[in-house]
Amino acid sequence: MKSSVLASIALDVVRVQMGLAPQKALQTTVHLNTHCNLRCSYCFIAANPNYPTGYKEAGLPLEKMKTVLKNLSPATHNVIFTGGETFLYKGFADLLEYARTELSFNSLSAISNGMFLESKPEILRGLDHVAVSYDLMRHAQYPDILDRVLSTIIRLRKDAIIKEDQIYFNCTINGHETLSHWSDFFDLAANHGFKIFVQPVRDGFGNLESWDAFNRVVRDIRKRYGLGMFVNCKTYLGEYDHQLTKQVCHPRARMYVDVWGNLVYPCERFAENNLGSLTEPDFPIASKWAEAEAREKFPSSKCEKCAYNCIFGNSIPYRRPVQTLVTAIAARL
Ligand SMILES: C[S@@+](CC[C@H](N)C(=O)[O-])C[C@H]1O[C@@H](n2cnc3c(N)ncnc32)[C@H](O)[C@@H]1O
Ligand code: SF4
Ligand code: SF4
Repeated sequence: MKSSVLASIALDVVRVQMGLAPQKALQTTVHLNTHCNLRCSYCFIAANPNYPTGYKEAGLPLEKMKTVLKNLSPATHNVIFTGGETFLYKGFADLLEYARTELSFNSLSAISNGMFLESKPEILRGLDHVAVSYDLMRHAQYPDILDRVLSTIIRLRKDAIIKEDQIYFNCTINGHETLSHWSDFFDLAANHGFKIFVQPVRDGFGNLESWDAFNRVVRDIRKRYGLGMFVNCKTYLGEYDHQLTKQVCHPRARMYVDVWGNLVYPCERFAENNLGSLTEPDFPIASKWAEAEAREKFPSSKCEKCAYNCIFGNSIPYRRPVQTLVTAIAARL
């Protein structure tokens, strides 16, 4: 990474940590598709009115998606793709190749159910990080599939096909689960040097009534495994609270693009606040965002019960400036 890029990320991380707007988003979540080969019982695609067509969206054609990324390039340091199942997006490897060679993102990541890591190595190779979901609710529904995903990941890591820290596990925890339910999986992850990102299961509107149960289990995990296991922002681990929103949510730190290529203000919880289509060449992201901000500021009382809370965004690694800088410098040596 060039030192100018490094400096601009570092400055933006500091700005966000001081509660100021960054010059570029630390990370943008791009909703690539909603197609999926699974039907997890708790999946928000089926439950949330933001996805009126359910699992039907195959995603934009490749050339349009390239335009979306071209528009995002000057406006965000990092991109994370979500779905649906991201590895099912047709042309994903080509899209990643285009983004890597033609555009100037610091990193490209995806959230995935992990079922295609081995059969689609060209996609795996194109991603800096893959957040593979390992949820106990999913395991109850698809035990054989999740066991297979896990053993494949361990084997691919052993064979160095998966690089160190390339994969971490996204763990979505429901209010009835405790450390004892999770400890077999966490022991295995810890023994193989994998990190975890924990989040609570959200209801159909992206809300969470109370953080108490989640905080309890997070504190227990922390006590048993230490802080090093988490990708989450360590400052807030086990202390999540709806009241924290005002200090930690700066929407510009983490933008969202819906499955039709629209830039959404301020986050995925307000899908109807569409600022326009990034499939249009030269879309003026910064000015559209500034106009929206002048009309209505976030976070606000509309954020009540937000279960996303920017503290859960996958921009978390970039909220840990020291580690981000050390990793980036080490990569240059
Ligand atoms: C919708 S999935 C898309 C990527 C991929 N299909 C997967 O499952 O990893 C993105 C993430 O959201 C999580 N998720 C699904 N439904 C959720 C809900 N109701 N609340 C919180 N997280 C949820 C999944 O476990 C996954 O980690
Ligand atoms: S794998 Fe992901 S997108 Fe597919 S149903 Fe499960 S949570 Fe939803
Ligand atoms: S709804 Fe949540 S993520 Fe969105 S702006 Fe409010 S606090 Fe931030």
